[in-house]
Amino acid sequence: MQAHIAIIGAGISGLAAARTLHEAGHAMQLFDKSRGSGGRLSSKRSPFGELDLGGQYFTARDPDFCRAVTDWQKQGWIAPWSPQLYQFRQGRLQVSADEQTRWVGTPRMSALTRGLLGELPVRFATRICEVFRGDQHWQLLDADGQLHGPFSHVLVATPAAQASPLLAAAPELAAQAAATAMQPVWAVALGFQQALPTPMQACFVQDNPLAWIARNASKPQRGGAIDSWVLHASSEWTRQHLDLSPDSAIEQLSAAFGSVLGTTLPAADFSLAQRWLYARPAADSGFGTLADAQRGLFACGDWCQAGRVEGAWLSGRMAAGNILQSISAA
Ligand code: FAD
Ligand code: NAI
Repeated sequence: MQAHIAIIGAGISGLAAARTLHEAGHAMQLFDKSRGSGGRLSSKRSPFGELDLGGQYFTARDPDFCRAVTDWQKQGWIAPWSPQLYQFRQGRLQVSADEQTRWVGTPRMSALTRGLLGELPVRFATRICEVFRGDQHWQLLDADGQLHGPFSHVLVATPAAQASPLLAAAPELAAQAAATAMQPVWAVALGFQQALPTPMQACFVQDNPLAWIARNASKPQRGGAIDSWVLHASSEWTRQHLDLSPDSAIEQLSAAFGSVLGTTLPAADFSLAQRWLYARPAADSGFGTLADAQRGLFACGDWCQAGRVEGAWLSGRMAAGNILQSISAA
């Protein structure tokens, strides 16, 4: 059978792999349980503009990733974001400007993944529940009982906890995924008709329920008519408040935001909350990707490398390299 590769997950890691395999001339099919691409780089449309509730920005350090970033900027999928940066530590708020280039998708974080997806074949709203092997090839079973295949290779590009059951046909890989802890994060978005009286556009927070504050409206091409903010709780606080209702999360994190600004916030004109159960790997693993080349089963994602956009992209590229090697060795 000619190579036909299934990729489960259309986040940045799955898409990095898909593009590499496509450029090498191989057929593939992407699957994602969501209605669009992006995974943790997803954005929400709201009456207050596009809101980035997951990944906030990314930096580029690896030379290959830096080259890709230059290309994405030329395509108009990303732009630099240079917020008025602050830090809050031991109850003190202060300016914390630096020289770091930070990139965001335009006009929303997920636009980068839309660009990478392009015309590649994808089935959205398709949750894969089982990956199993017949005599010669792989089949996938989705949550509606539909079978997909045959495939010569399968790449699982989901967070570790979701990858483990899909890797059951290669027990060592499944065990490694199961052993990877991922941390949760509560995210809250707030919109104010009247801009909050602060020059702050982003803030790294310590010693507080929050870990990060961003003036979403200050990112390029967000409209900016409404003063929108995104707050991320620390993973530690989130673990202790995992079962809060969205309304309580909004209330408690809004109060924490007020304490950072040293004021009581006016009532928000818009708010929403999202709980990310698998926001980030607890530690950087650095193994890059998982491969059972003999069976043709592979895994990638930030949890294989480092819990950042760059780590996820590098992992996807490495997985594609392993698949190409196994195709040429066959
Ligand atoms: P994901 O983006 O999680 O993609 C996995 C995909 O698999 C998803 O689309 C999901 O729907 C799909 N999927 C899962 N299970 C199935 C299934 N059974 N069947 C079909 N599809 C399935 N990184 C930074 O660099 N900078 C930041 O500022 C930053 N901030 C962050 C803030 C938050 C709150 C979060 C959550 C993450 C943040 N990150 C940040 C991390 C960054 O977003 C991730 O490292 C990166 O997006 C992970 O990409 P991925 O492809 O590995 O996984
Ligand atoms: P980066 O270099 O901007 O930040 C790395 C870390 O350095 C920051 O978390 C912060 O603690 C510190 N830092 C950087 N600049 C600072 C400044 N001017 N003042 C004070 N502290 C500063 O970005 P990098 O390395 O690409 O990391 C990505 C970001 O994504 C980090 O902020 C990380 O915490 C965040 N992230 C958040 C996740 C979540 O679930 N909330 C998941 C994965 C990453």
